[in-house]
Amino acid sequence: IMNKQKMPKDFFWGNSVSSMQTEGAWNEDGKGLSVYDVRPATENTTDWHTAIDEYHRYDEDLDLMKEMNMNMYRIQISWSRVCPEGDGKFNLKGIDFYDKLINAMLKRGIEPMICLYHFDMPLHLAKEYNGFMSRHVVDAFVRFGKKMIDHFSDRVKYWIVFNEHNLYFQDEVFNISGYEKGDKTLDDMYTIFHHTMISHIRLANYIHEKYDDVKIGGMLAYQQIYPETSKATDVWAAKQAQEFLNFNIYDADTGRGYSPEVMQYAKDHHINWDITDEDQEEMKKAQADFLAFSYYSSWTLSADKIPEDIAPNRYMNYGGVKNKYLKTNAWGWTIDPLGFRNAITTMYNHYKIPVFPIENGIGLKETWDGEHMIEDDERIAYHEEHIKAMKDAMFLDGAKVLGYLGWGLIDIPSSHADVEKRYGAVYVNRSNHDLKDLKRVPKKSFYWSQKVLKNNGDEI
Ligand code: BG6
Repeated sequence: IMNKQKMPKDFFWGNSVSSMQTEGAWNEDGKGLSVYDVRPATENTTDWHTAIDEYHRYDEDLDLMKEMNMNMYRIQISWSRVCPEGDGKFNLKGIDFYDKLINAMLKRGIEPMICLYHFDMPLHLAKEYNGFMSRHVVDAFVRFGKKMIDHFSDRVKYWIVFNEHNLYFQDEVFNISGYEKGDKTLDDMYTIFHHTMISHIRLANYIHEKYDDVKIGGMLAYQQIYPETSKATDVWAAKQAQEFLNFNIYDADTGRGYSPEVMQYAKDHHINWDITDEDQEEMKKAQADFLAFSYYSSWTLSADKIPEDIAPNRYMNYGGVKNKYLKTNAWGWTIDPLGFRNAITTMYNHYKIPVFPIENGIGLKETWDGEHMIEDDERIAYHEEHIKAMKDAMFLDGAKVLGYLGWGLIDIPSSHADVEKRYGAVYVNRSNHDLKDLKRVPKKSFYWSQKVLKNNGDEI
């Protein structure tokens, strides 16, 4: 069956980024240090001081987004820019920057979405309090979040709190939560995860109690996990990993509390994760207006590779294997549009809450000769297939989807600080060690997207 149905008129098409991967201006206008600002460049990576300098070039970047017919831009508010120490005075110049950025979006008909935390803990809170290990940091974060909600929600109606919340339940948590010291125990992992969850829920409840027209949702790096074989052990391991990493979190986001399977595991293993009675009361009130997620590729899991006594939330840190049926990009990430449909349809079937893919894209190595347009046909094919798959989920499977946001559609350094892994429809002229002129140069996929978006995706 072809997708002959028309896309919803109010569908969002846009771009997503984080602060440290775009803004630069790491020490300007009163910004405090985050843990990223002190990470030095290495041979194959850049530092985080300039990124693509969007702090000074946002007008130009928004013009490009408008030209591409986008109507949503997801940005992050950098905690250390608006509150340099994280728990101290607010920096009015920092808030002023986001006021200008958001007003510039609205002027162009681009709806803002705000994310409040994307791995960049204020350095002071990491050093003094060990980041989200501490309840002090939970309180400081909630204070910051409420202040942002009160300040911006007259203009910003879509909010998420933690980027890829399920990473806080895997080994990655120790790199992204401001954790500076400790033995990286399971207790610590579960505690940090719970502290972030209760932070999310306190802010979601705040929005729902105070504002009628403001929407907030959970956000995962959705784990579309296949068993390596049809062995029951592989199938069971894949199911467990998905329960711990996907449904456990959306369950909590939607007021169902943590998964019974996760609670039982924690109890049997005597995990102390600092869940108070008060937290449990807050958790019951939680609601999600949408379920957001990032999706780049699917993953495959082998039970045989998982050592004994590993918690299911850590399986993917051990048991990931190649999927011989899927092609990959240069970094080994599979290209799997049907996995994208599977993710959307599964989420909507489970929760019946609108689903919102807010990161999708393919990292490619690209160089610009200074003259000719970059022909990124591989990227065009990737987005085309994923948009098709999303439409299948909508029109063949009945899922409600709010929009489709690509990741880094103006090139930004990858999460590993490597500028040479590019996701953009627009090339940014810099390398890891040479800032050159940071010129923005549309690629072939820019013109392709421009047409697709102009027709609201109806021609895919
Ligand atoms: C997500 C993160 O994991 O994927 C981003 O939210 C990241 O910060 C993006 O940049 C793509 O991953 P990577 O490692 O290729 O940059």
